[in-house]
Amino acid sequence: MTTGAEVILKGVEVRFNRAVALPATDLTLERGRFTALVGPSGCGKSTLMNVVAGFQPLSAGEVLLDGRPIAAQSDRIGVVFQQYALFPWMTALGNVRFALRSLGLGRAEEKARAEEALAEVGLSDHMRKYPAQLSGGMRQRVALARSFVRRPALLLMDEPFGALDAQTRLSMHRLLSRIFLKAGATVLFITHDIDEALMLADRVLVMSPGPGRILRDYAIDLPRPRNPAELPHAVKAEILDLLHPAFSQTCPPST
Ligand SMILES: Nc1ncnc2c1ncn2[C@@H]1O[C@H](COP(=O)(O)OP(=O)(O)OP(=O)(O)O)[C@@H](O)[C@H]1O
Ligand SMILES: [Mg+2]
Repeated sequence: MTTGAEVILKGVEVRFNRAVALPATDLTLERGRFTALVGPSGCGKSTLMNVVAGFQPLSAGEVLLDGRPIAAQSDRIGVVFQQYALFPWMTALGNVRFALRSLGLGRAEEKARAEEALAEVGLSDHMRKYPAQLSGGMRQRVALARSFVRRPALLLMDEPFGALDAQTRLSMHRLLSRIFLKAGATVLFITHDIDEALMLADRVLVMSPGPGRILRDYAIDLPRPRNPAELPHAVKAEILDLLHPAFSQTCPPST
C-alpha cells in the first residue's frame, strides 16, 4: 500500500511567450485525496496538470511533492492522458511492463506485477493483444494499469475517459474508485463532466475561463462506491451555473 503524496503549488504561474495560461496559483493537494478539476476549455487545466507532472516549465513559483521539488521525483507520479498513449508495437502486457522497466526488478517479478495490474483492470484474458486489437475502453484500462503499476504516490489524469461511451465510462468509474481506495494515492483528475467529478472526487475545484483561476472549492463527502442517482444536485447546479451562467438562466432546473 502506498501513501499518497502531498502536493503544494506556491505562486505557480505559466506564460506562453507573453500570454498568461495560468495566473499565479496557490494550491495544496492533500495526501490520499481525490481532487477533480473542472473548468471551461482553454482555462488552463492541462497546463496546471503538466506543471504538477513536472512537464511544464514555470514562469514563476514552485511545486513541492512531500516538501521537495517535484522535478527529481517523476518516478513517484503516474499519468493518464485523454488519448491512450500506448506503444502500438507492444502487447498490453508489454506496455505495462515497460512502466516497470526502470525499477530494476527481476524479469519474473516485473511480469508478475504487470499481470497483477492487468488482472486488477479485468484484462487477464487480453494481455497478449496489441492496442489495435483492443476496444477503446480496454486500451484505457491498459493505460490505467500502466499508471498505477509502479504504485505512484500521485496519480494525474487528464480527461482519461472523455473518449469513451457512457456505459464504459460508468464501469471505468467503478474501477477507478476501487483502485483509488486500495492504492491510497493522491489523485488529480481533470474532466469536463461534472457528474464524473462528483462520482469520483473528495474535492471538486472549479476554474474560471482562461486564464483560469480557481473559483470554488467543494468538499464532496459521500461514501464510495457512489450511486449516480444520489449525487449532490445542489452542488451540480452551482457548478453548472459557474461554467455556463447564460445557459442555466434560460433553462428550467432539471429534477
Ligand atoms: N504549448 C503551448 N503554447 C502556447 N500556448 C499554449 C500551449 N499550451 C497551452 N496553451 C494555451 O494555454 C491556455 C490553456 O490551455 P490548456 O490546454 O491548459 O487548457 P485546458 O483547460 O486544458 O483546455 P481543454 O479543456 O480544452 O483541454 C490556452 O489558451 C492555450 O491556448
Ligand atoms: Mg486540457
